Amino acid sequence: MNDQPIGIFDSGIGGLTVAHAVNKLLPQESIIYFGDTAHLPYGDKSTAAIQSYTIKIADVLLKNNCKVIQIACNSASAAAYQLVKEYVGSRAKVLNVIDPAVHYVAKKYEGKTIGLIGTKKTVSSNVYRKRLDKTNAEIELKALATPLLVPMIEEGFFNSNISHSIIENYLKDPALQGIEALILGCTHFPLIKKEIEAFYNKKVEVIDSSMIVAEHLKEYLRKHELISSGKDVKHTFYVSDYTRSFAESTRIFFKEEVQLEHYPLWE
Ligand code: DGL
Repeated sequence: MNDQPIGIFDSGIGGLTVAHAVNKLLPQESIIYFGDTAHLPYGDKSTAAIQSYTIKIADVLLKNNCKVIQIACNSASAAAYQLVKEYVGSRAKVLNVIDPAVHYVAKKYEGKTIGLIGTKKTVSSNVYRKRLDKTNAEIELKALATPLLVPMIEEGFFNSNISHSIIENYLKDPALQGIEALILGCTHFPLIKKEIEAFYNKKVEVIDSSMIVAEHLKEYLRKHELISSGKDVKHTFYVSDYTRSFAESTRIFFKEEVQLEHYPLWE
């Protein structure tokens, strides 16, 4: 048993979809969430820039005594997971958002063709292909960067004509044809899952990794005897740049009102 909090971070508020799934599945755990809203989006940044931000965030989460750091951003998982893991060392466990999804598809889609959508960083890093290769599952992966989707969601354009037409444009791309499942390789995308499912009309499984990540985390805590007793559960939400629009969007991502606290990464 371990009552220290779980640290969860993302480039912004998209990772709250993961925090929400974690809270639902592990209500006895305290969460410290860090959204690096000052540097959003990570998807267009260099590897070096993302690495320097994530090390700073790891420091904040370590200072807050987190037992586990769950990276809730595909772009950060692609660019900085190994580095953060080495940096943190034995001070906390570090988990990424990609491996649980990869294991899920490796088990279910052996011999099949699946798709992936994500930021430019995630897709160009080829990280899903590399991790899939490690599982030895014979899977053809068709990937497409969909950079308009994050700003579209951040601006509140979903379940609208605008989002329908942008999503349709991307999903009709020749690069994504002939797939049996589609990985939502960005933690913002659970918010448009229903629209993507509607496009495929149930013929393609749309894989939202937030629940898969939360289930993996639960199993991980159990295996390492790190589950909390549930005493004094408290959630804290930090952002590196505070604006009213972030505060307003937070409810949509976390599905309940939360109090954002401003925590600048560089003074
Ligand atoms: N939520 C981030 C991810 O999962 C994408 C947002 C960004 O580009 O910063 O990749």
